[in-house]
Amino acid sequence: MEERKSWLIKDDAILKDLFDLTKMSDEEKKVLGELKNVAETMTTDMVDAFYGRLTKHDATSEFINGKLEKMRETLREWFLDLFQGVYDKDYVSKRLQIGRVHVKIGLPVRYPLAMMDIIIDYGQRIAGKSDKPEIALQAYRKLAALDIAIFNQAYESTQLKHLAKMLGNEMLARRILTQEDGE
Ligand code: HEM
Repeated sequence: MEERKSWLIKDDAILKDLFDLTKMSDEEKKVLGELKNVAETMTTDMVDAFYGRLTKHDATSEFINGKLEKMRETLREWFLDLFQGVYDKDYVSKRLQIGRVHVKIGLPVRYPLAMMDIIIDYGQRIAGKSDKPEIALQAYRKLAALDIAIFNQAYESTQLKHLAKMLGNEMLARRILTQEDGE
C-alpha cells in the first residue's frame, strides 16, 4: 500500500486538518454563537437524558459510580462550548484532550459514539430556534460530525502510537492496522 498524505499529518497539524475539513463559514460560527443563551435553557434536559441512559445500562454505569455530579457538570460545559462562537485549534485541542480522558479510563469508543444521538437531538432543537435556522442547523451538524471525528481520533492516535512504539516503525504500524485478518 502506498503512503498517504493524511498519514504524514501529525500532532498539532491534526487539529487544523480536522477543523479545516468542516469548512465552517464566519456566518455559521456567528449564528451558533448567538444561540448560547438558548442552549443554557436546554442543557439540563440534555444532561438528564444523557446520564439517564448511561446509568440504566450496566456496562456504562460502572464508569459513573460516585462521579455523577462532577460528570454532569463537565458534560454541561462541553455541550455549551458548542455554542461559544469560536471554533479554532484550541477548541479542537480541548475536545481531543477530553477524548483522551475516555481512552485512558478504558471506555470502549462505541459508547461515546453511541451517545451522540442525544447531543445531536438537543443541538438541533437549539439550532432550530435561531433566526437563521437553516444556517444554524448546517453549522451544528458540522460540529457534531467534528466531535465524532475527534473521539475517533483520540482512540486511533493512541493505538497507533503504542503499536508504532512496539514495532519501532510507524508506517509498519499503519500497514498492520489496515489488515483485516492481521496478516
Ligand atoms: C458524547 C459523548 C461524551 C461526552 C461529550 C463526554 C464528555 C466528557 C467530559 C467533558 C469529561 C471531562 C473530561 C476531563 O476531565 O477533562 C468526561 C469524563 C468522563 N466521561 Fe465522558 N463523555 C461522553 C461519553 C461518555 C460515556 C459513554 C461514558 C461512560 C460511562 C463516559 C464516562 C466518563 C468518565 C468515567 C469520565 C471521567 C470522570 C472523572 O473521573 O472525572 N463518558 N466526559
